Amino acid sequence: MTVKPSVLITGASTGMGAAYAERFARRGHDLVLVARNTARMETGAERLRSETGVGIDIIAADLVNPQERATVEARLGEDARIGILINNAGTSLAGTFIEHAVEDIDRLVALNTTALVRLAHAIAPRLASAGEGAIVNIGSAVGLAPEYGMPVYGATKAFVLHLSQALSLQLGPQGVYVQAVLPAATRTEIWGHAGVDVDTLPAVMEVDDLVDAALAGFDRREAVTIPPLHDLGQWEAFEAARQSMIPGFGQSRPAERYLVGA
Ligand SMILES: NC(=O)c1ccc[n+]([C@@H]2O[C@H](COP(=O)([O-])OP(=O)(O)OC[C@H]3O[C@@H](n4cnc5c(N)ncnc54)[C@H](OP(=O)(O)O)[C@@H]3O)[C@@H](O)[C@H]2O)c1
Repeated sequence: MTVKPSVLITGASTGMGAAYAERFARRGHDLVLVARNTARMETGAERLRSETGVGIDIIAADLVNPQERATVEARLGEDARIGILINNAGTSLAGTFIEHAVEDIDRLVALNTTALVRLAHAIAPRLASAGEGAIVNIGSAVGLAPEYGMPVYGATKAFVLHLSQALSLQLGPQGVYVQAVLPAATRTEIWGHAGVDVDTLPAVMEVDDLVDAALAGFDRREAVTIPPLHDLGQWEAFEAARQSMIPGFGQSRPAERYLVGA
């Protein structure tokens, strides 16, 4: 029997990360759970160990703290049993750009982008040399929509989408599957941190539905999974329009409309 790879999940103490932990445990994968709240992870892990029999390790780490993050990076680089990284930990900010404290912007960018890319970088060489494995990055539909009015959060999620698509192109041929998951509003605690009452939103997905859909995309090896997008043709048209610009970017002369006074 082939041994199933262990799965390291960040932000596993609640929300989507906890739902991913539940799903992968039921699929028979051992887990490494990462977040700051050890008590919550312990409670979840105890239940999953007894219900599924999988092995579960817990790493208490603030992924914004370089020393604590380094423990997770080292584990990803060294533990050959870990074959799947779920880069899920993320947070949001209340208020407008001007209202954000600059320290909060720093923490948001450090968690949503720096930690995510560093963890991917810690595991990628090992997966590429093994010729198998997966990196799942949780982005957001906000990364496609500046209109939502979450400039810094949305920018970090645009980073996640770009990084994932580019890594899919680089690592895919080496056998490493990279998936970007783009949820829209989902019922988790993140809304409380963003100062929004989730029940005032027009439509909210339940976290179990979101993670089940994300895993359906994972099983199909989709590069980009957008659970709330019902019309897949819209994403395909968007991607086709984007890709159609690429051959035009290499030019020695600026476009005609900028040749003012020349
Ligand atoms: N919910 C939505 O509507 C929605 C929509 C689109 C995208 N997303 C994305 O989905 C992902 C999961 O979010 P969620 O909705 O499940 O949020 P959540 O319920 O607030 O959970 C966030 C998780 O990240 C962990 N975390 C937060 N700060 C951390 C830090 N500094 N170091 C380590 N872990 C940290 C939290 O655990 P501790 O507090 O124990 O550390 C928690 O386990 C995020 O990347 C989010 O941006 C969410």
